[in-house]
Amino acid sequence: MIIEDEKGVTPAVLKAMEGTTNARARQIMEALVRHAHAFAQEVQLTEEEFEYGLDFLNRIGKTTNDVHNEAILFSDTIGFSTLVCLMNNGKNGASETAAALLGPFWRMHSPKTENGGSIVRSDTPGPVLFADCLVKDQNGNPLAGVEIDVWQSSPVGLYENQDDSQADMNLRGKFISDAQGRFSFRSVTPAGYPIPLHGPVGDLIRAQNRRHFRPAHLHFLLLKEGFKTLVTQVFVDQDKDLDNDVVFGVTRALVGNYVKHTSNAPAPDVTGEWYSLDYTFVMEKGVAKLPHPPIK
Ligand code: BEZ
Ligand code: FE
Repeated sequence: MIIEDEKGVTPAVLKAMEGTTNARARQIMEALVRHAHAFAQEVQLTEEEFEYGLDFLNRIGKTTNDVHNEAILFSDTIGFSTLVCLMNNGKNGASETAAALLGPFWRMHSPKTENGGSIVRSDTPGPVLFADCLVKDQNGNPLAGVEIDVWQSSPVGLYENQDDSQADMNLRGKFISDAQGRFSFRSVTPAGYPIPLHGPVGDLIRAQNRRHFRPAHLHFLLLKEGFKTLVTQVFVDQDKDLDNDVVFGVTRALVGNYVKHTSNAPAPDVTGEWYSLDYTFVMEKGVAKLPHPPIK
């Protein structure tokens, strides 16, 4: 098709894609083209801005490597990850969901850890945390045999893969819920942290004059045949950034009750302040599948 003018571009592209064999791929690409063209027209995109945008995309790719995922970071900071998460969990928004974005720091093969065991694998100063969790289905029945991945930042706000002073897989573990649907573990209380700003997402956040911190949280990924994989985070209720998460991950259901204690420590080596967390996860019926790991 010969293009006569600006108005002819969108229909020509849609026509060229008509032969797409996969119906869903056709639907997605048609909508993407229509919205992308409408976007350029709405903002009257200049050639310089177009070049900047292309360079931004290229920089996302170049900044991504085995230990850093800039594409996920970009999607997270513009709220796209949370939007997709809430659209696809909790019966398309019909019910409250305990799901949250995966983030860029989940690793496969975290060490299997016995129920009640510790995920502290190298000296990690900070207040001790005891987490006691229950997994149920939507009818309130306890779910046994759920595989649960846990990962978190240290009390200084760094994941082990960002911090040479931590052992490999420190503050990561894999648990199996028991016959009563329970799993528990010992750790240290996570701290809030700044997201990485060394790539194009950093330029974006600085240009928008945004605070670039996440409130403290634990990450969980729950996997069981017959249930939709539950990827989530449980936030520290006292965190000052709870209502200012740079990646929009905090929903009401995910604010945990982290209780500070000064006595009755559950282990003899715990002195001074320690924290406890009791949390119940509800899994929806669905398909169990693992996400693609953002880093190795
Ligand atoms: C995280 O929670 O691990 C995370 C999520 C989004 C951006 C950066 C970190
Ligand atoms: Fe995190």
